[in-house]
Amino acid sequence: MRYGGFVALDGVELEVVAGRVSAVVGPNGAGKSTLFHCLAGTVRPARGTVSLGGRDITPLSAQARTRLGIARTFQQSAVFPTLTVAENVRVGAEQGRPWDPRAVERTLRLLGLDGPVRARPATGLPTGTLRRVELARALAAAPRVLLLDEPAAGLDTAEVTALARILKALAADGMALLVVEHDLDLVAGLADIVHVMTAGRIVASGPPGSVLHTPERRSARDHHHLPAARAGALRPPGGPARRHPRRTRPRPHRAAGPQRLRPYDRPARARR
Ligand SMILES: Nc1ncnc2c1ncn2[C@@H]1O[C@H](COP(=O)(O)OP(=O)(O)OP(=O)(O)O)[C@@H](O)[C@H]1O
Ligand SMILES: [Mg+2]
Repeated sequence: MRYGGFVALDGVELEVVAGRVSAVVGPNGAGKSTLFHCLAGTVRPARGTVSLGGRDITPLSAQARTRLGIARTFQQSAVFPTLTVAENVRVGAEQGRPWDPRAVERTLRLLGLDGPVRARPATGLPTGTLRRVELARALAAAPRVLLLDEPAAGLDTAEVTALARILKALAADGMALLVVEHDLDLVAGLADIVHVMTAGRIVASGPPGSVLHTPERRSARDHHHLPAARAGALRPPGGPARRHPRRTRPRPHRAAGPQRLRPYDRPARARR
C-alpha cells in the first residue's frame, strides 16, 4: 500500500479469527491505521488480497464490506455531532446485515447508553461516552468482524477495564476482533494474538506473553513518548494533532475465560 511514493504497508499478512481478539501494536506511523483502511475498504492497496470467510472482497467498496459484516471504529472520533446518541447508533444499525429494528435498543443497552444520554446530541459528550457511542454504532450493524482503531485513547482506567470486559465478551460470543492499541497493558490483558508492526511490516506475531516482552515492545513504548507534533509530522496538512494518552498506573488483568454479554459497567465518572 503506497501513499504517493511512500510505502505504508509492505507484505503484511495476517488472519483475524472468529472468537479471538487479535491486536496490532507498533510505533506512530507504522501503518496500523492504513492496515485498517485496507481491511475496511477505505483505501485500496496496490497489491494484495483481503478475504472474508474465504471470499475475495478486495474489489468491494467499504459499504459492501459493511453489509458483509465488517464494522470499524476510527482513531479520530467519528460520530455525527448533531445527531443524538440513539440516532448515531441507528445509522450503524441501518448499515448492517440484515436490518434488525431491535439492534438499536439492544446495542444501547449493552453499552450503557439507554438512559437519558440516548437523547443527547453527540456534540459535547465526554470522550469516554463518545467512544461508547462509536462502538455502539459499529456493533449495531451486527458485524462478524470488528476493527477498533485505538478504542482506549482518552479513556480513564475504569473505562478501559469496562471496555476490555465487553470486547472479551464479544469475542467469546464468536466475533472476530482486531484492535490497534498503544496501551500495551490493555493489549496484554485482552489479546489472544499480537502482531507488532514497524515501518509497514509485521515484525513479530504471537501470544502477548511472548511478543510483548521483545525489543519491539520497548520500541513501541519508546516511540509512544514522542511528542504529538512528531507523531503527526507526516500527516496531511491541516489534520488534527493526535494524542495517545497513556496511563501510568498498571491495571490488574482479568482472568481469561468465557464471559457472557451483559451491559457495560458504567464507571461512576462516566455515568450521565
Ligand atoms: N493520507 C495519507 N497521505 C500520505 N501519507 C499518509 C496518509 N495517511 C498516513 N500516511 C503516512 O503513512 C504512514 C502510516 O500511517 P498510519 O496512520 O497508518 O500509521 P499508524 O501506525 O496508524 O500511526 P499512529 O500510531 O500514529 O496512529 C505514516 O508515515 C503516515 O504519515
Ligand atoms: Mg493510527
